[in-house]
Amino acid sequence: MDYRIREVDGCDPAIAAQIARLHLIAFPGEVPIRTDGGWWWLAWNGDNGRPIGFAGLWPSSRFAQTGYLCRSGITPSHRGNGLQKRLIRVRERKARTLGWHWMLTDTVPSNPASSNTLISCGYRTYVPAKPWCTNGAIYWRRSLDDE
Ligand SMILES: CC(C)(COP(=O)(O)OP(=O)(O)OC[C@H]1O[C@@H](n2cnc3c(N)ncnc32)[C@H](O)[C@@H]1OP(=O)(O)O)[C@@H](O)C(=O)NCCC(=O)NCCS
Repeated sequence: MDYRIREVDGCDPAIAAQIARLHLIAFPGEVPIRTDGGWWWLAWNGDNGRPIGFAGLWPSSRFAQTGYLCRSGITPSHRGNGLQKRLIRVRERKARTLGWHWMLTDTVPSNPASSNTLISCGYRTYVPAKPWCTNGAIYWRRSLDDE
């Protein structure tokens, strides 16, 4: 299938509504994440032009020159096509243009798909000196200076 990924303006109400709709599908029962900060991307099904995935990047609130992969989701019927990996790569490219050197994120142990995607993209687990999650999270980081 043909997919398109493009950076979007999370402050645009129409875009925010699209991301909120996709968020509800990917994270049923969770309050959609705010999109009026950071940088946001949508993925479209190129065959019919419908948005089928989203991802966000925030500046780390703890570390300088560091990006935080804040959230991504793909609608169930489009999973397994490498879209999360592509959404990680576009966020890394943005981070490099911002002059950042590190990427961080965290996952929950019950989400092996996310962990495996991060491994594919070169991320390594580590234990931060001051962990910021309370739920037994797995912490991940990648140097953007490696390649
Ligand atoms: C997690 C999620 C974004 C993955 O999206 P995707 O586009 O299907 O991911 P990709 O196709 O890029 O890669 C999926 C990887 O996970 C693996 N995977 C998929 N399902 C898996 C499972 N049940 N157990 C273990 N690994 C699994 C795939 O083999 C692939 O690994 P690979 O890179 O070694 O080939 C998607 O499943 C989703 O939206 N889930 C709900 C929301 C969520 O959990 N978001 C992430 C946290 S913010």
